[in-house]
Amino acid sequence: QRLVDDEPVIDPIALVGPDLGELKGNIGKLLSSQHPFVNTVAQHYFSGQGKHIRPLLVLLMAQATSMTLPATQRQPHANDGTTTASAAAAAIDFQSIDQPISFGLFNMTPTSLFNQQQHYTPNRTRGGCTVLPTQRRLAEITEMIHTASLLHDDVIDASLTRRNLPSANASFGNKMAVLGGDFLLARASLALARLRNGECMEIMATCIANLVEGEFMQLKNTSSDRDDDAKQPVQKKSTFDHYMDKTYMKTGSLIAQSCKASAVLGGCDDRVKTLAFEFGKHLGLAFQLIDDMLDFTVSAADLGKPAGADLKLGLATAPVLFAWEEYPELEDLIKRKFNKKGDAEKARRLVYQSNGLKRTMTLAEKHCELAIDAIQQLPPSDAQAALIQLTKKSLTRKS
Ligand code: FPP
Ligand code: MG
Ligand code: MG
Repeated sequence: QRLVDDEPVIDPIALVGPDLGELKGNIGKLLSSQHPFVNTVAQHYFSGQGKHIRPLLVLLMAQATSMTLPATQRQPHANDGTTTASAAAAAIDFQSIDQPISFGLFNMTPTSLFNQQQHYTPNRTRGGCTVLPTQRRLAEITEMIHTASLLHDDVIDASLTRRNLPSANASFGNKMAVLGGDFLLARASLALARLRNGECMEIMATCIANLVEGEFMQLKNTSSDRDDDAKQPVQKKSTFDHYMDKTYMKTGSLIAQSCKASAVLGGCDDRVKTLAFEFGKHLGLAFQLIDDMLDFTVSAADLGKPAGADLKLGLATAPVLFAWEEYPELEDLIKRKFNKKGDAEKARRLVYQSNGLKRTMTLAEKHCELAIDAIQQLPPSDAQAALIQLTKKSLTRKS
């Protein structure tokens, strides 16, 4: 009942509209390079209609967690825990982004950073909730890391469409797409360094590593992938645990850690940081479970990317793993990654015949409930209500 999507009372976009409105333009500046083709490839996925879920969450989390602080403490934080205008100025500086280091930020003293106030867009406060300049930059960094992973993902999955447009690899080839992703990661790292917050840097670096680990776990997606026990029967429980661990790494970590980093930059205490993390983790898990369900239920036209891709890629996601409990014959197909003619079609049919899709939805609902449990422990605010609403809506999304 708690998950029923009532009439929307809050428009999340309206709450963070100006910040979100600057997102694409600011990312464009962060990606500026003296090599025009680098710009073209790195910015390819920013030309279409992205959902911008991750930056939206970072900005709303900034607002929601700011309510745990006295108004006087809602200031940019440097890595020594002090509140400094220079941390904010460094965070939002674009000037030297594509200059050699000797002309850039690193030969400036904190005083010269402080003097760059003309670049400092002030905190935006709505209904007592604050978004700091550093948190706005974090939202951009998060979207850049996510997009870098999509550039690489479409190469790995040999996927030719994304957001109803040709993928970067389809447009520029695999080599350029991989390098474009690398460039995005590099510029995201530079922007992250300029936040001057060691804890935030550690958190975000961890989730980049997790994205890669998740992708490795997906390539080796059952215990039968291990050379030493290829002949052993696959354990359903451990396979499902592996799938959920992979799901955290692949999708949960970036959302969880960026929500936490938002609270870190806001100067929140450990309890609030943990609540932000828990919210993001459970929402991220639900988000990927729904994604894995939509791969079975929605057309490519509606998804804006290939449908039914997972079975073709040899991947057994939640709907198949649940169906396997009802149809043991799926085990052989899962083990051989649906690589025999007709395997993918048979698995798809058994998923539809089983409760696999329903049970995937039930598990996603459970994680949404846990996300709501976490966020409800923050003081009430419009941003909190918007995060709860977004969580509920994630269950009914169609693309
Ligand atoms: C989309 O999954 C892909 C991800 C969520 C993560 C991909 C991560 C990497 C390729 C590791 C490299 C990471 C970085 C930061 C460069 P999907 O293929 O299931 O979804 P799709 O249908 O949207 O393609
Ligand atoms: Mg993919
Ligand atoms: Mg993939």
